[in-house]
Amino acid sequence: MDELKVFTGNAHPVLAQAVVEYLGIPLGKSEVFQFSNENIFVRILENVRQRDTFVIQPLSSPVNANLVELLIMLDALKRASAGRITAVIPYYGYGRTDKKDQPRVPITARLIADLLTVAGANRLLTVDLHAAQIQGFFNIPVDELTALNLLANYFAERDFDDLVVVATDIGISKRARDLAEKLNAPLAIMEKRRAGNVDQAETLNVIGEVEGRVALTLDDEIDTGGSLVNVVSTLKEQGVKEVYACCSHPIFSDSAIQRITSCPVKEVVVTDTVPIKDNEKLDKITVLSMAPLLGEAIHRIHTGLSIGAMFE
Ligand code: R5P
Repeated sequence: MDELKVFTGNAHPVLAQAVVEYLGIPLGKSEVFQFSNENIFVRILENVRQRDTFVIQPLSSPVNANLVELLIMLDALKRASAGRITAVIPYYGYGRTDKKDQPRVPITARLIADLLTVAGANRLLTVDLHAAQIQGFFNIPVDELTALNLLANYFAERDFDDLVVVATDIGISKRARDLAEKLNAPLAIMEKRRAGNVDQAETLNVIGEVEGRVALTLDDEIDTGGSLVNVVSTLKEQGVKEVYACCSHPIFSDSAIQRITSCPVKEVVVTDTVPIKDNEKLDKITVLSMAPLLGEAIHRIHTGLSIGAMFE
């Protein structure tokens, strides 16, 4: 397995290209397309026998098509006798369906883990899972990278006075505490409750001192932007001077862009784990690239070096 090969599906070729540029290798050749009957076809166009192969494919929109594309690519590599296959999923979709918290619901995050393994994945490389426990849904090695250092370094350079890091819900509070420590700032937590299964969040309460400070909110993803808008307006009501927001995964579905445009948040800092569309490139949205971290992690997996050391 001395040769490294990196392939991409159609989910995020721009990120895959940036990763292979970091690695100094060409992108693996493949064709991945849909027939008129919507069946997806994949052909790997170069020899991968005994090679160390990686497929970069976030589970971004269109989520289900991108998932099936990835599964079929893994199957194609397995049947082409690849030596090892790593699924590189910078954004693990379905991660929010990770527990049976009401009667007769699925644990889809676990189902996806099984599907990936059956399709042929020998390892998973991912970024900021919705819940770290999803790692345990896999019986293959999982390397989970984090965008936290990237985001922390960006805001450290801004050198805000009176900064407070705000966890947008209790689930993200441990990561927000790490971000607060890196920025030498105190932590506040929003107590948020969701009403039903629809994508509408309700913000209730701020735990911690925020009045008169600059707030930096942290979430794992911004989906419809509903949580962000609620958090920003609650923080404003509590006397916060300015609000900045950051997250790893800019899903930006529905009217997220309209919501961000009209909401008084000063800047939203995200990464490129999912593609950013042209209409999402607003002045107040800053995109930091995960490509160097993903490239370095692939290099380390290939050569047997520590990934943990990247974050020490
Ligand atoms: C939920 O638990 C997640 O951590 C995010 O808070 C959520 O996905 C954000 O969704 P939205 O932008 O639709 O409010």
